[in-house]
Amino acid sequence: MTAADRPVAGVIGWPVAHSLSPRLHGFWLDRAGIDGFYVPMAVAPERLGAALAGLPALGFRGVNVTVPHKQAVFDALDRVTPVARRAGAVNTVTVGEDGTLEGTNTDVAGFLGHLRQAAPVWQADAAPAVILGAGGAARAAAVALLDAGVARVTVVNRTVARAEALASALGDARVAVAPWERLAGALDGAGLLVNTTSLGMAGQPPLTLDLAPLAADAVVYDIVYVPLETPLLAAARARGLATVDGLGMLIHQGVPAFRAFFCAEAAADAATRAHLLAAL
Ligand code: ATR
Repeated sequence: MTAADRPVAGVIGWPVAHSLSPRLHGFWLDRAGIDGFYVPMAVAPERLGAALAGLPALGFRGVNVTVPHKQAVFDALDRVTPVARRAGAVNTVTVGEDGTLEGTNTDVAGFLGHLRQAAPVWQADAAPAVILGAGGAARAAAVALLDAGVARVTVVNRTVARAEALASALGDARVAVAPWERLAGALDGAGLLVNTTSLGMAGQPPLTLDLAPLAADAVVYDIVYVPLETPLLAAARARGLATVDGLGMLIHQGVPAFRAFFCAEAAADAATRAHLLAAL
């Protein structure tokens, strides 16, 4: 077997040392018996274009792209899928046979795949949804919920102008915007609350909300995964609400990326989760 027969992919970020993706894909490669590589690559913002342009010559099948490159990467691509355009972010780049680069976004599918797996009772059209935050993760969540068929999703953000910009970028009448001060009203009767802010992350202030206005069967989803049970999820659990943590989204977004890089199926299952948990 020559080196070229051994598939190579990786993740580009700055910094990248914290990324769990090498551990995730390495686990799946081992399990599938594939003699391939998934490597972390620390690439400074000013070198992103050069790094991506080098991928075909280096024989890469593709790369995941993480913070802070998910928007800047658009300039370096030959094609972008519709879902990546709508999400305004690319997290997966594949190298075609002809050496061209295509960008897509698997965070959107990862967000929804994990929600459906962790909270199978959730029904998109049963009650409105609320998203806290207006960054890249909020936009991916909003695209996923719109595609799933929510009748209404309200984006609540500290800086309301960012929420308005997100809504206008999505251009969908089902998206509403509210300032943080009107959060209680937005939560009234909601069937899904999603936190995409950094509040509750280790080292950040907790997200303390009154969850009482939520529907009795509401689901609370926190995309933060360090710690795995954030203060928000603990409060939701204490109220008897279904909770969804952020680790599963990371795993689920990796499944289509693994398929694209290694032409094999990966499963977002308990063994994968345990393997990542051991590193947290
Ligand atoms: P990402 O792209 O990962 O979603 P981001 O663009 O940095 O990350 O967005 C972080 C989100 O957390 C934003 O919605 C931010 O609110 P602002 O737009 O007002 O900055 C939110 N956030 C961060 N710290 C916060 C705090 N202390 N209180 C409320 N919201 C906060």
